[in-house]
Amino acid sequence: MKNKISYLRLDKNYHKIKKKLFFFLDRIGNKGDFILAKEVGIFENKLKKFLNSKYVASCANGTDAIEISLKILGIKKNDEVITVANTWISVANSIINIGAKPKFIDIDESLNMNILDFEKVISKKTKCIIVTHLNGLPCKMATIIKICKKYNIKIIEDCSQAIGSKYKGSYVGNFGDIATFSLHPTKNLGVFGDGGFISTNNKRYYNKFITIRNNGLINRDNAKYIGRNSRLDAIQAIVGLLQLKNLKKCISIRKANAKFYNKSLASLKNFIKTPNFSIDKDVKHTFHRYVIICSERNKLFKYLIKNNIEVKIHYPLNIHEQISFKDYYTKKLINTDLLNKKIISLPIHENLTLRDLRKIIKLIKNFYKKKIFS
Ligand SMILES: Cc1ncc(COP(=O)(O)O)c(C=O)c1O
Repeated sequence: MKNKISYLRLDKNYHKIKKKLFFFLDRIGNKGDFILAKEVGIFENKLKKFLNSKYVASCANGTDAIEISLKILGIKKNDEVITVANTWISVANSIINIGAKPKFIDIDESLNMNILDFEKVISKKTKCIIVTHLNGLPCKMATIIKICKKYNIKIIEDCSQAIGSKYKGSYVGNFGDIATFSLHPTKNLGVFGDGGFISTNNKRYYNKFITIRNNGLINRDNAKYIGRNSRLDAIQAIVGLLQLKNLKKCISIRKANAKFYNKSLASLKNFIKTPNFSIDKDVKHTFHRYVIICSERNKLFKYLIKNNIEVKIHYPLNIHEQISFKDYYTKKLINTDLLNKKIISLPIHENLTLRDLRKIIKLIKNFYKKKIFS
């Protein structure tokens, strides 16, 4: 649609790397080596260097990265795994798929887990926590690590939305036992299909992961573990390598866009809470999403859509409200439920123009000035 401002412009990302991509595709095609090929190893090494971690192993998607990590950490039937209900549903599906139970913890206004509630939800069955750095904002890992040490709880850092975000000067993905990442096309680092990877500083976890992702095989003919097929292919590795070159630029544009929004929307503080760049000096956001907490959410949402601005809600239904999770809804999640009705994700991507941003801001100001909702 003409004049529409899209939530994402993945087509533009494709055009940025198209020429080089075609060159490398031809090279891969001519070699005829497609799965777990040399390019996959090169991509894993570059990610390792980027994150400054000891080991990186790719896999077919971010959900597999979580599920295989849970298995490697020894999470079993009836164990409890703590997570939040406002993250992507596959996090909780992974917990259930390995036979464990998700235990949802409430969130605070940062939209990340409320660490003050953490100790309250721990029981003897709690064996692991999956910490999602939602929207690109890191959780306060120091407190989480301290509590996990006290109760012997394993940590999976779900960095799917937070590649490049920093906590206490280091990239997220270096604070738990294993960190998981999604390479879904919509992520700040995305490929042109599905993809994912783990990062860890533990050699044993790494070795087990690369075996399980390849049907448990330690060589062509011998299987040590029950595994699965969760391999990345050479073509996605090439896309990943080319996109990785643009990642720092992509993050800095997103931050600049967020700064512009925050400044421009500050006058609406009675109606809108804009996201904090950092909840304290240790935490650095990368704005995978720019999520505002606002009054009259549904009306503002409709108004922006009507005016050709593609906004989103992440996510319209929290996990514990999904029919598939009706047996796992234990107790009320007050902030999770409340904030879910107030959030809107505005376009923040690196292909927005200043004109686009100004138009979105003008419409939002118009909405509240004219009290279109009253
Ligand atoms: C927070 C979070 N965790 C896990 C995933 C799962 O990743 P994938 O879609 O690659 O399986 C996603 C991706 O949407 C995500 O945003």
